[in-house]
Amino acid sequence: MSEAEAGRELGRRELAATYSGTAAFYDQIAQPFQEAAKLAAIAALDRRPGERFLEVAAGTGWLFSRVVRRSGSEGALGLELAAGMLDLARWRLAAEAGLAAPPLVRGDASYLPFADAAFDCLLSSYTLEVLPAGLVAPVLGELGRVLRPGGRLVLVNLTAGEGTDSAVSDDWARRYRRDPAAFGGARPVALADAVTTAGFVAGKRRYIGGSGRWPSEVLTARKPAAGLGPAMLNGCRTTHIFCRENCPPGRRTKPENRVRFANEAAALAAGYRACKVCRPDRFSGPWQPGQASSREGRAAGAAR
Ligand SMILES: C[S@@+](CC[C@H](N)C(=O)[O-])C[C@H]1O[C@@H](n2cnc3c(N)ncnc32)[C@H](O)[C@@H]1O
Repeated sequence: MSEAEAGRELGRRELAATYSGTAAFYDQIAQPFQEAAKLAAIAALDRRPGERFLEVAAGTGWLFSRVVRRSGSEGALGLELAAGMLDLARWRLAAEAGLAAPPLVRGDASYLPFADAAFDCLLSSYTLEVLPAGLVAPVLGELGRVLRPGGRLVLVNLTAGEGTDSAVSDDWARRYRRDPAAFGGARPVALADAVTTAGFVAGKRRYIGGSGRWPSEVLTARKPAAGLGPAMLNGCRTTHIFCRENCPPGRRTKPENRVRFANEAAALAAGYRACKVCRPDRFSGPWQPGQASSREGRAAGAAR
Protein backbone atom coordinates (compact mmCIF):
# COMPACT_ATOMS: atom_id res chain seq x y z
CA MET A 1 0.00 0.00 0.00
CA SER A 2 1.46 3.39 -0.95
CA GLU A 3 1.52 6.22 1.54
CA ALA A 4 -1.05 8.10 -0.52
CA GLU A 5 -3.39 5.09 -0.43
CA ALA A 6 -2.81 4.63 3.28
CA GLY A 7 -3.42 8.25 4.24
CA ARG A 8 -2.04 9.66 7.48
CA GLU A 9 -0.98 6.98 9.91
CA LEU A 10 -1.59 6.93 13.65
CA GLY A 11 1.56 6.68 15.76
CA ARG A 12 2.01 4.58 18.89
CA ARG A 13 0.83 7.26 21.34
CA GLU A 14 -2.18 8.17 19.26
CA LEU A 15 -3.16 4.51 18.94
CA ALA A 16 -2.79 3.97 22.69
CA ALA A 17 -4.92 7.05 23.44
CA THR A 18 -7.53 6.22 20.80
CA TYR A 19 -8.04 2.65 21.96
CA SER A 20 -7.96 3.56 25.66
CA GLY A 21 -10.66 6.12 24.90
CA THR A 22 -12.86 3.69 22.94
CA ALA A 23 -12.38 0.64 25.18
CA ALA A 24 -15.68 1.07 27.03
CA PHE A 25 -17.78 0.87 23.85
CA TYR A 26 -15.38 -0.95 21.46
CA ASP A 27 -17.23 -4.26 21.73
CA GLN A 28 -20.57 -2.60 21.04
CA ILE A 29 -19.40 -0.93 17.84
CA ALA A 30 -17.04 -3.57 16.45
CA GLN A 31 -17.76 -6.98 17.93
CA PRO A 32 -20.91 -7.96 15.98
CA PHE A 33 -19.10 -7.27 12.70
CA GLN A 34 -15.96 -9.19 13.74
CA GLU A 35 -17.44 -12.14 15.56
CA ALA A 36 -17.55 -14.66 12.70
CA ALA A 37 -13.89 -14.08 11.79
CA LYS A 38 -12.79 -14.17 15.43
CA LEU A 39 -14.57 -17.48 16.06
CA ALA A 40 -12.96 -18.87 12.90
CA ALA A 41 -9.56 -17.74 14.23
CA ILE A 42 -10.10 -19.50 17.57
CA ALA A 43 -10.99 -22.69 15.70
CA ALA A 44 -7.95 -22.33 13.40
CA LEU A 45 -5.66 -21.76 16.40
CA ASP A 46 -6.96 -24.96 18.03
CA ARG A 47 -4.94 -24.36 21.18
CA ARG A 48 -4.43 -27.40 23.35
CA PRO A 49 -4.38 -27.14 27.19
CA GLY A 50 -0.99 -26.08 28.49
CA GLU A 51 0.33 -24.77 25.18
CA ARG A 52 2.24 -21.53 25.66
CA PHE A 53 -0.06 -19.03 23.98
CA LEU A 54 0.30 -15.30 23.38
CA GLU A 55 -2.38 -12.98 22.05
CA VAL A 56 -0.82 -9.78 20.74
CA ALA A 57 -2.98 -6.66 21.15
CA ALA A 58 -5.67 -8.48 23.10
CA GLY A 59 -7.95 -5.42 23.23
CA THR A 60 -10.98 -5.96 25.46
CA GLY A 61 -10.08 -9.63 25.93
CA TRP A 62 -13.04 -10.96 23.95
CA LEU A 63 -10.91 -13.53 22.10
CA PHE A 64 -8.53 -14.18 24.97
CA SER A 65 -11.40 -14.98 27.32
CA ARG A 66 -12.79 -17.53 24.86
CA VAL A 67 -9.40 -19.14 24.26
CA VAL A 68 -8.70 -19.62 27.98
CA ARG A 69 -12.24 -20.83 28.72
CA ARG A 70 -11.74 -23.42 25.99
CA SER A 71 -8.16 -24.52 26.71
CA GLY A 72 -7.27 -23.21 30.19
CA SER A 73 -5.29 -20.24 31.43
CA GLU A 74 -2.06 -22.12 32.17
CA GLY A 75 0.58 -20.96 29.70
CA ALA A 76 -1.67 -18.23 28.24
CA LEU A 77 -0.69 -14.57 28.10
CA GLY A 78 -2.25 -11.48 26.54
CA LEU A 79 -0.36 -8.30 25.64
CA GLU A 80 -1.94 -4.94 24.92
CA LEU A 81 -0.69 -1.38 24.45
CA ALA A 82 -3.71 0.67 25.56
CA ALA A 83 -4.22 0.87 29.33
CA GLY A 84 -7.99 1.36 28.94
CA MET A 85 -8.28 -1.83 26.90
CA LEU A 86 -6.18 -3.71 29.43
CA ASP A 87 -8.44 -2.61 32.32
CA LEU A 88 -11.49 -3.84 30.47
CA ALA A 89 -9.81 -7.14 29.55
CA ARG A 90 -8.85 -7.69 33.20
CA TRP A 91 -12.42 -7.09 34.29
CA ARG A 92 -13.73 -9.45 31.59
CA LEU A 93 -11.35 -12.26 32.49
CA ALA A 94 -12.26 -12.01 36.14
CA ALA A 95 -15.99 -11.96 35.36
CA GLU A 96 -16.11 -14.50 32.52
CA ALA A 97 -13.20 -16.84 33.24
CA GLY A 98 -12.98 -16.47 37.03
CA LEU A 99 -9.34 -15.36 36.88
CA ALA A 100 -8.43 -13.32 39.97
CA ALA A 101 -5.06 -12.39 38.44
CA PRO A 102 -5.61 -12.37 34.67
CA PRO A 103 -2.41 -13.13 32.70
CA LEU A 104 -2.30 -9.82 30.82
CA VAL A 105 0.61 -7.44 30.38
CA ARG A 106 1.01 -3.98 28.93
CA GLY A 107 3.44 -3.92 26.03
CA ASP A 108 4.26 -3.00 22.46
CA ALA A 109 3.91 -5.53 19.65
CA SER A 110 6.98 -4.14 17.94
CA TYR A 111 9.17 -4.86 20.96
CA LEU A 112 7.85 -7.96 22.69
CA PRO A 113 9.28 -8.40 26.20
CA PHE A 114 9.68 -12.17 25.80
CA ALA A 115 12.51 -14.58 25.10
CA ASP A 116 13.06 -16.15 21.69
CA ALA A 117 10.85 -19.21 21.06
CA ALA A 118 8.82 -18.52 24.25
CA PHE A 119 5.43 -19.52 22.76
CA ASP A 120 3.86 -22.47 20.96
CA CYS A 121 1.11 -20.45 19.29
CA LEU A 122 0.23 -16.82 18.65
CA LEU A 123 -2.92 -14.94 17.75
CA SER A 124 -3.53 -11.35 16.77
CA SER A 125 -6.76 -9.92 15.46
CA TYR A 126 -7.70 -6.65 13.78
CA THR A 127 -4.39 -5.11 14.80
CA LEU A 128 -1.77 -5.19 12.02
CA GLU A 129 -4.07 -2.99 9.94
CA VAL A 130 -4.06 -0.20 12.54
CA LEU A 131 -0.26 -0.03 12.77
CA PRO A 132 1.83 2.33 10.64
CA ALA A 133 2.64 0.37 7.45
CA GLY A 134 6.37 0.50 8.27
CA LEU A 135 5.75 -1.39 11.53
CA VAL A 136 4.06 -4.43 9.99
CA ALA A 137 7.32 -6.19 9.02
CA PRO A 138 9.05 -5.45 12.36
CA VAL A 139 6.01 -6.74 14.26
CA LEU A 140 5.90 -9.91 12.14
CA GLY A 141 9.64 -10.26 12.84
CA GLU A 142 8.93 -10.05 16.57
CA LEU A 143 6.14 -12.63 16.26
CA GLY A 144 8.59 -14.92 14.46
CA ARG A 145 11.23 -14.40 17.13
CA VAL A 146 9.00 -15.27 20.12
CA LEU A 147 7.34 -18.26 18.39
CA ARG A 148 9.09 -21.60 18.73
CA PRO A 149 10.20 -23.40 15.55
CA GLY A 150 7.17 -25.28 14.25
CA GLY A 151 4.83 -22.99 16.24
CA ARG A 152 1.53 -21.66 14.88
CA LEU A 153 0.43 -18.14 14.01
CA VAL A 154 -3.15 -17.00 13.36
CA LEU A 155 -3.96 -13.49 12.19
CA VAL A 156 -7.30 -11.81 11.53
CA ASN A 157 -7.25 -8.64 9.45
CA LEU A 158 -9.72 -6.26 7.91
CA THR A 159 -9.25 -6.79 4.17
CA ALA A 160 -10.54 -5.87 0.73
CA GLY A 161 -14.08 -7.18 0.29
CA GLU A 162 -14.76 -9.94 -2.22
CA GLY A 163 -17.69 -9.78 -4.63
CA THR A 164 -20.36 -7.33 -3.48
CA ASP A 165 -18.40 -6.75 -0.23
CA SER A 166 -15.93 -4.69 -2.26
CA ALA A 167 -18.31 -1.73 -1.96
CA VAL A 168 -17.93 -1.90 1.83
CA SER A 169 -14.13 -1.94 1.83
CA ASP A 170 -13.85 0.65 -0.98
CA ASP A 171 -16.05 3.00 0.98
CA TRP A 172 -14.09 2.26 4.17
CA ALA A 173 -10.75 3.01 2.46
CA ARG A 174 -12.14 6.25 1.00
CA ARG A 175 -13.45 7.50 4.36
CA TYR A 176 -10.29 6.33 6.14
CA ARG A 177 -8.13 8.50 3.88
CA ARG A 178 -10.18 11.54 4.89
CA ASP A 179 -10.08 10.83 8.63
CA PRO A 180 -7.83 7.93 9.75
CA ALA A 181 -8.35 8.73 13.44
CA ALA A 182 -12.11 8.16 13.12
CA PHE A 183 -11.29 4.58 12.09
CA GLY A 184 -8.71 4.00 14.82
CA GLY A 185 -6.09 3.79 12.05
CA ALA A 186 -7.77 0.68 10.60
CA ARG A 187 -7.76 0.28 6.83
CA PRO A 188 -8.21 -2.83 4.64
CA VAL A 189 -4.97 -4.80 4.16
CA ALA A 190 -3.90 -8.11 2.60
CA LEU A 191 -1.02 -9.59 4.56
CA ALA A 192 -0.41 -13.10 3.20
CA ASP A 193 2.70 -11.96 1.30
CA ALA A 194 4.07 -10.03 4.29
CA VAL A 195 3.70 -13.15 6.44
CA THR A 196 5.74 -15.30 4.05
CA THR A 197 8.27 -12.50 3.49
CA ALA A 198 8.75 -12.50 7.27
CA GLY A 199 9.87 -16.14 6.99
CA PHE A 200 6.69 -18.00 8.00
CA VAL A 201 5.34 -20.96 6.05
CA ALA A 202 1.91 -19.95 4.81
CA GLY A 203 -1.07 -22.06 5.79
CA LYS A 204 -4.59 -21.13 4.69
CA ARG A 205 -6.19 -17.81 3.90
CA ARG A 206 -9.90 -17.79 4.58
CA TYR A 207 -12.06 -14.87 3.54
CA ILE A 208 -15.00 -14.08 5.80
CA GLY A 209 -17.50 -11.43 4.77
CA GLY A 210 -21.10 -11.05 3.76
CA SER A 211 -24.00 -9.20 5.28
CA GLY A 212 -23.31 -7.69 8.71
CA ARG A 213 -19.62 -8.67 8.70
CA TRP A 214 -16.49 -6.67 8.10
CA PRO A 215 -14.58 -8.10 5.13
CA SER A 216 -11.89 -10.06 6.93
CA GLU A 217 -9.06 -12.49 6.22
CA VAL A 218 -8.06 -15.25 8.63
CA LEU A 219 -4.46 -16.28 7.93
CA THR A 220 -2.73 -19.29 9.38
CA ALA A 221 1.03 -19.84 9.19
CA ARG A 222 3.82 -21.80 10.87
CA LYS A 223 7.33 -20.93 11.82
CA PRO A 224 9.60 -23.35 9.91
CA ALA A 225 10.83 -26.24 12.06
CA ALA A 226 14.39 -25.12 11.34
CA GLY A 227 13.59 -21.61 12.62
CA LEU A 228 13.56 -18.48 10.53
CA GLY A 229 17.09 -19.26 9.33
CA PRO A 230 20.41 -17.52 9.46
CA ALA A 231 19.16 -14.63 7.35
CA MET A 232 17.88 -12.79 10.44
CA LEU A 233 18.76 -9.10 10.17
CA ASN A 234 18.71 -6.39 12.81
CA GLY A 235 17.22 -2.96 12.15
CA CYS A 236 17.37 0.24 14.14
CA ARG A 237 14.05 2.04 14.37
CA THR A 238 15.64 5.46 14.87
CA THR A 239 18.08 5.35 11.92
CA HIS A 240 15.98 2.98 9.73
CA ILE A 241 19.18 1.09 8.84
CA PHE A 242 19.35 -2.73 8.85
CA CYS A 243 22.47 -4.80 9.51
CA ARG A 244 23.75 -8.34 9.48
CA GLU A 245 24.35 -10.07 12.81
CA ASN A 246 27.51 -8.87 14.55
CA CYS A 247 27.82 -5.67 12.57
CA PRO A 248 29.77 -3.42 14.99
CA PRO A 249 27.64 -0.27 14.59
CA GLY A 250 24.49 -2.42 14.47
CA ARG A 251 25.38 -4.02 17.80
CA ARG A 252 25.34 -0.60 19.42
CA THR A 253 21.60 -0.23 18.72
CA LYS A 254 19.71 0.04 22.01
CA PRO A 255 17.50 -3.03 22.64
CA GLU A 256 14.33 -0.93 22.67
CA ASN A 257 15.22 0.46 19.22
CA ARG A 258 16.04 -2.93 17.69
CA VAL A 259 13.70 -4.61 15.23
CA ARG A 260 14.27 -7.93 13.52
CA PHE A 261 13.71 -8.84 9.91
CA ALA A 262 13.68 -12.33 8.44
CA ASN A 263 15.40 -11.15 5.28
CA GLU A 264 16.36 -8.18 3.14
CA ALA A 265 12.98 -8.05 1.38
CA ALA A 266 11.17 -7.63 4.71
CA ALA A 267 13.54 -4.85 5.78
CA LEU A 268 13.21 -2.99 2.47
CA ALA A 269 9.41 -3.39 2.56
CA ALA A 270 9.43 -1.69 5.97
CA GLY A 271 11.33 1.26 4.51
CA TYR A 272 14.75 0.41 6.00
CA ARG A 273 18.02 0.80 4.09
CA ALA A 274 21.09 -1.42 4.08
CA CYS A 275 24.00 -0.63 6.41
CA LYS A 276 27.04 0.57 4.52
CA VAL A 277 29.41 -1.09 6.99
CA CYS A 278 28.22 -4.72 6.83
CA ARG A 279 26.35 -4.51 3.48
CA PRO A 280 23.45 -6.92 4.11
CA ASP A 281 22.40 -6.17 0.53
CA ARG A 282 25.60 -7.85 -0.72
CA PHE A 283 26.54 -10.49 1.85
CA SER A 284 24.65 -13.00 3.99
CA GLY A 285 25.47 -14.55 7.36
CA PRO A 286 27.27 -12.80 10.19
CA TRP A 287 29.54 -9.85 9.43
CA GLN A 288 33.26 -10.67 9.34
CA PRO A 289 36.09 -8.22 9.98
CA GLY A 290 37.52 -6.84 6.75
CA GLN A 291 34.45 -7.80 4.71
CA ALA A 292 32.82 -4.86 2.93
CA SER A 293 34.86 -2.37 4.91
CA SER A 294 34.85 0.28 2.22
CA ARG A 295 35.82 3.86 3.01
CA GLU A 296 32.15 4.71 2.56
CA GLY A 297 31.22 2.03 5.09
CA ARG A 298 33.78 3.12 7.66
CA ALA A 299 32.50 6.67 7.43
CA ALA A 300 28.89 5.52 7.89
CA GLY A 301 29.84 3.42 10.92
CA ALA A 302 31.70 6.30 12.52
CA ALA A 303 28.76 8.61 11.94
CA ARG A 304 26.17 6.39 13.75
C1 LIG B 1 -8.81 -2.66 16.38
S1 LIG B 1 -8.25 -3.03 17.99
C2 LIG B 1 -8.37 -4.81 18.06
C3 LIG B 1 -8.40 -5.32 19.46
C4 LIG B 1 -8.54 -6.83 19.59
N1 LIG B 1 -7.40 -7.52 19.06
C5 LIG B 1 -9.78 -7.29 18.90
O1 LIG B 1 -9.69 -7.92 17.85
O2 LIG B 1 -10.87 -7.00 19.41
C6 LIG B 1 -6.50 -2.78 17.81
C7 LIG B 1 -5.77 -3.01 19.12
O3 LIG B 1 -4.36 -2.93 18.88
C8 LIG B 1 -3.78 -2.29 20.01
N2 LIG B 1 -2.46 -1.80 19.59
C9 LIG B 1 -2.17 -0.81 18.72
N3 LIG B 1 -0.85 -0.67 18.56
C10 LIG B 1 -0.27 -1.62 19.35
C11 LIG B 1 1.07 -1.97 19.63
N4 LIG B 1 2.11 -1.35 19.04
N5 LIG B 1 1.30 -2.98 20.49
C12 LIG B 1 0.27 -3.63 21.09
N6 LIG B 1 -1.03 -3.33 20.88
C13 LIG B 1 -1.31 -2.34 20.02
C14 LIG B 1 -4.78 -1.21 20.35
O4 LIG B 1 -4.60 -0.68 21.62
C15 LIG B 1 -6.07 -1.98 20.19
O5 LIG B 1 -6.44 -2.63 21.37
